[in-house]
Amino acid sequence: MANRADIGVIGGSGFYSLLDDAEEVEATTPYGPPSDVVTVGRIGSRSVAFIPRHGRDHRFPPHRIPYQANLWALRSLGVRQVLAPSAVGSLRAEVGPGAIVVPDQLVDRTSGRVQTYYDHGGAVHVSFSDPYCPSGRAVAVAAARSGEWDTVDGGTLVVIEGPRFSTRAESQWFQGNGWTIVGMTGFPEAILARELALCYTSLSLVTDHDAGVEAGQGVTHEEVLEFFGRNVTRMRTLVAEAVRALPEDRTCACGSALDGLKLPFELP
Ligand code: ADE
Repeated sequence: MANRADIGVIGGSGFYSLLDDAEEVEATTPYGPPSDVVTVGRIGSRSVAFIPRHGRDHRFPPHRIPYQANLWALRSLGVRQVLAPSAVGSLRAEVGPGAIVVPDQLVDRTSGRVQTYYDHGGAVHVSFSDPYCPSGRAVAVAAARSGEWDTVDGGTLVVIEGPRFSTRAESQWFQGNGWTIVGMTGFPEAILARELALCYTSLSLVTDHDAGVEAGQGVTHEEVLEFFGRNVTRMRTLVAEAVRALPEDRTCACGSALDGLKLPFELP
């Protein structure tokens, strides 16, 4: 069917396009418009919908991204599996710029962001102990390894409110807790995907050592964008490889995340 897709990609800083010759869809949702028009096209035999997370002109800072609209728009187009490339800082000296981390855990240090679809009409408590899709993670790790990225399988992403970077003390505290990488957009994206029973996989490109790491001197926005820009072609190849390798049929538990729960509305 036209304008339908199985796989969604939400591109991060510096990642403003994925699909050539794709159709543009002006999606509308009960939560307003997504970050930008959604492009719907193909990678090999797979149908893919792409949204640039910050908008094509990077107009949305991390705390103002319309996360609810983005995930809702993807699900409305038929998407059930989401790949989420993003830029992150490393909290480990041995994980340097250019590494791909596929986290298996998440710590939410954001504040004030809307983090649920289930705000009215009764309580809906969704399990989130393992925030990422195990099948998507395995695919992402294999794709990164076969693309000869320095690849970290697992680790904890701490998501800060931003838009400022962390102080050295905050960063040292994150590191002391054993967390691996720090970013600004991985939450509430991951929980909103789970609340729509979508598979969600983070492909985190390390652009810098965060301020509290031995090697890290602190980071600027320009450095992050510049680093991501230099790696964007390679990142596109990585995401395309992961898209091709995602399972056609889901065998993970992500699709059953809402089983037995009384939802106040029908999912799109
Ligand atoms: N995105 C890229 N680098 C980052 C950092 N050091 N902290 C938070 N978000 C980031």
